[in-house]
Amino acid sequence: MPGPIRYAVFPVAGKGTRFLPATKASPKEMLPVVDKPLIQYAVEEALAAGATNLIFITGRHKRAIEDHFDSDADLEQLLEAKGKDDQLEMVRSIVPDDVSCIYIRQGEPLGLGHAVLCARSVVGNQPFFVHLADDLIDADVPCLEQMRQLYEDVGGSVIGVQRVPREHTDQYGVVDGEPVGDNVWRLSGIVEKPAPDSAPTDLAVVGRYILEPEIFEHLTQIGEGAGGEIQLTDGIARLLGERAVRACEFDGIRFDCGSKLGYLEATVHFGLKHAEFGDDFRIFLCNTTADL
Ligand code: G1P
Repeated sequence: MPGPIRYAVFPVAGKGTRFLPATKASPKEMLPVVDKPLIQYAVEEALAAGATNLIFITGRHKRAIEDHFDSDADLEQLLEAKGKDDQLEMVRSIVPDDVSCIYIRQGEPLGLGHAVLCARSVVGNQPFFVHLADDLIDADVPCLEQMRQLYEDVGGSVIGVQRVPREHTDQYGVVDGEPVGDNVWRLSGIVEKPAPDSAPTDLAVVGRYILEPEIFEHLTQIGEGAGGEIQLTDGIARLLGERAVRACEFDGIRFDCGSKLGYLEATVHFGLKHAEFGDDFRIFLCNTTADL
């Protein structure tokens, strides 16, 4: 039986050009959905699946991410002095004490495959999660945990997928394969951003992966792929010639928070679910839409 997965890799070096001007000087991963930055949702999902070593592949202008997960003695003192115990507990518990955060700089933006390869010296010969914080998923059982349960049963690598409209296949990695269980496919192929008429299926990769360490060697062998970048998809296409790779269509709602519309949808969705003001927000939305 495969052991626990302790490493989670968060590629966060990307520029976020789809979200300019908001992302000109601040990381897109720090955009808040209601009251938490996207990268904190990402970390919470990885922790819920058992990760204890969080590896952030960062770049220029991403210091705010390190600051967010670091302790802040001044802030803690201030909250303590003011008796704001709940907030003190909230900022202290962002990362549990037994979890390590590791930051690796991706010097050049050479692509997602290259970003993942940057984690090799830390991950070594272990399986690991990859989580793209842009893809925010709300699910009763967190998406990476659903995938981990499949991994625990069958091993190999596991890719999170979702059906998308045919005309959108050119925005995603798209998988090919045969069904081997409920919402599970054994992959025979994967291709990055195919045109709708050449896409093998409508099963698109969202930003969740469990990868066996063999992927690293394949990532050193591939050249530039779609968009002139070193693509993780191309590494996986080589990996599946040698190791089992499965796709898991998870239960949950996914929001593309790299796009302005997806981000707005996520904000409304999580706003409506908020314990403190969700009901008031619902009334506000109903009144507002009635006025339009
Ligand atoms: C990346 C991956 C792609 C995947 C997508 C999910 O693309 O390369 O395979 O489908 O994330 O969000 P990007 O959106 O960075 O272009």
